[in-house]
Amino acid sequence: MINEIQKVAIIGAGSKTADTLIRVLTKELDMKFLLFSSQFSVEKAQSPKIVQYPISATDKKQLKAVLLHEQPSFIINCAAMTNVDGCEDNKQLAWSLNVTTVETLVQICKITGSHLIHFSTDYVFDGLNGPYSELDKPNPISYYGKSKLAGENVCLPSGIDVTVLRTNVVYSSNPNKGDFVHWVIKMLEKELPITVVSDQYSNPTITDDLAYAVLKVILKGYKGLYHIAGSKYCNRVDFAKKIAQIYMLDETNIHPITTAELHQKAKRPLKGGLQTLKAQSEFGIEFLSVESGLIMMRNQLFSLGYIKHK
Ligand SMILES: NC(=O)c1ccc[n+]([C@@H]2O[C@H](COP(=O)([O-])OP(=O)(O)OC[C@H]3O[C@@H](n4cnc5c(N)ncnc54)[C@H](OP(=O)(O)O)[C@@H]3O)[C@@H](O)[C@H]2O)c1
Repeated sequence: MINEIQKVAIIGAGSKTADTLIRVLTKELDMKFLLFSSQFSVEKAQSPKIVQYPISATDKKQLKAVLLHEQPSFIINCAAMTNVDGCEDNKQLAWSLNVTTVETLVQICKITGSHLIHFSTDYVFDGLNGPYSELDKPNPISYYGKSKLAGENVCLPSGIDVTVLRTNVVYSSNPNKGDFVHWVIKMLEKELPITVVSDQYSNPTITDDLAYAVLKVILKGYKGLYHIAGSKYCNRVDFAKKIAQIYMLDETNIHPITTAELHQKAKRPLKGGLQTLKAQSEFGIEFLSVESGLIMMRNQLFSLGYIKHK
């Protein structure tokens, strides 16, 4: 019963996913929100529903102290090391965020009985034959993917109430959070040429779809593994061209390149992406196409005052 649910804790509240979660969940739910982030310099909440804790996701001691005291009904973990090449360079930090933090939260949930909602990625797959379903066998080819799979394996079989939401190529309306869409817009607005990979496939996902999936999990208590992703499966060049079209920018500045030509530190799954039938049928929601997501984002940028014309 919704009335019994009092508190939702969000770890990594400064992430781009949490930014939208906070906007959507504080509007939709009459609950108290405990936000944990290393980014709070001033402990001033924007809403009476919100309490801010300037605590990093890696601070096991502080996380335990506050969460054991607060006893939230739900703990949403948005913290992660998401820089894929950075994870190859700093494996210790990647493990600390993508695995050890999850272990800490599982230990806490075992005591508090909180339901853990955790995010993962299509990078747990090798990208040989995506898009993948929840039943496909993971085979990560990067340290980011390996550490995220280890994080899933820490929480899914732990015996706590847990939901893992895998997603891919996430974008949001907040230009300060940094993502592929904002990078393409910024470069094309300056009429600068960009090289974009033509052989990496995914289904780009707007953070609003993630937020409404989390809302369903909170309201209905879904547990287990779910794939949450946009409805359009495409390569990055097609995605970039769609961004140019929706924002009326010159797409001739988009130059295709292959992944092999890029020489990135970490290997990338090429045919990645996620099948979302399970979440769609059980949650009863349809995820947005690239076109609808980009139009929604443009409307949000307008209403938030980031752009002058829709
Ligand atoms: N972005 C994508 O395209 C994508 C794709 C697939 C899956 N995912 C998954 O979705 C989830 C959310 O991703 P996101 O893109 O929203 O995350 P994000 O914007 O990259 O933010 C991750 C957050 O993790 C915390 N963090 C990162 N490095 C840290 C460090 N060295 N010390 C302490 N805290 C640190 C920070 O939280 P605070 O700032 O609050 O301290 C940071 O804001 C992750 O589990 C990710 O693996 C993302």
